[in-house]
Amino acid sequence: MSEHFITDTLNRADTDFEVSLRPIRFEDYIGQAKVKERLELFVQAAKGRGDVLDHVLLSGPPGLGKTTLAHILAQAMEVNIKVTSGPVIDKPGDLAGLLTNLERGDILFIDEIHRMQRAVEEYLYSAMEDFVIDIMIDQGPNARSVRLNLQPFTLIGATTRSGLLTAPLRSRFGLTNRLDYYGAEDLQTIILRSARILNVDISDDGAREIGARARGTPRIANSLLRWVRDFAQVRAGNKIDPEVADQALSMLDIDRDGLDEMDKRILETIIRKFNGGPVGLNSLAVSVGEEAGTLEEVYEPYLIQEGYMKRTPQGRVVTAHAFEKFGLKPRGQQEELL
Ligand SMILES: Nc1ncnc2c1ncn2[C@@H]1O[C@H](COP(=O)(O)OP(=O)(O)OP(=O)(O)O)[C@@H](O)[C@H]1O
Ligand SMILES: [Mg+2]
Repeated sequence: MSEHFITDTLNRADTDFEVSLRPIRFEDYIGQAKVKERLELFVQAAKGRGDVLDHVLLSGPPGLGKTTLAHILAQAMEVNIKVTSGPVIDKPGDLAGLLTNLERGDILFIDEIHRMQRAVEEYLYSAMEDFVIDIMIDQGPNARSVRLNLQPFTLIGATTRSGLLTAPLRSRFGLTNRLDYYGAEDLQTIILRSARILNVDISDDGAREIGARARGTPRIANSLLRWVRDFAQVRAGNKIDPEVADQALSMLDIDRDGLDEMDKRILETIIRKFNGGPVGLNSLAVSVGEEAGTLEEVYEPYLIQEGYMKRTPQGRVVTAHAFEKFGLKPRGQQEELL
């Protein structure tokens, strides 16, 4: 199971454990300073005018805090939030049902908004722009369109793939925010906060050790903390310091740089089987035995951000940094040696 720890964790969103650790106010939301500042200002301005908050798009890799922010926005605006997701809305009628039930100022949160069906999406345009929705009723000669007036509302869309959003949909958001991977210090702070809530005994440098190995992702940080807590309970008298954290994380095959077995398999495969690249996404996926979509959404963004690999028009290539990680000389230098 350990080589799937990362993907399992990222796919298991909104568990009770997670919800218990979710910050509910801006003050408790750690990091992402720019996004937070913009959103706080946006809220303050709307509230000052007695307006409804304009539509907000949140994008970024899984587990970085998009759902959390949507709830914080609802709390800050003192409005209700209704949660749904793109693939769940089957037909325009479902969307109309959701929208007509909203009160003035309420938030409709649509997760994975890039996966909404096109036919449904088109109804969203007039709803977002003019707060009306034209629904077709009946069929054949009796078919006619009925206009439903909506209360002004706020749509918050979340997506892990903002590139897949259509231009007309994207253009209807008043504010677009991209979340980035968190730095080591922010993750340390998040872990210390979670440890307080969970009543876990952890030292500052113990939290730093876990944070450094959490792929820049709060959801993974919390999940690692839980694992290390269990480890400490059974093997280390309930106290987490850097050594205990290291032993616990090594047991999950998460190395000092925060890479897991699948990360290493990806890099080694490109190096050994494809001579450093370029290699196409699908060939790589087959070689490492993982789905192309998972490689693209979960593994690659982090490997790219940490400088181990790049995407080029010809395919994926590893960098000198990746060769060094495995104690190998970068390709250019090897050729010189031959
Ligand atoms: N800025 C933050 N400060 C503290 N904790 C955070 C922060 N962002 C996220 N978390 C924690 O990480 C967990 C995951 O965040 P969240 O569910 O909001 O991610 P997401 O971006 O919606 O992920 P997905 O794309 O998978 O839906 C939350 O339950 C929360 O405990
Ligand atoms: Mg989410």
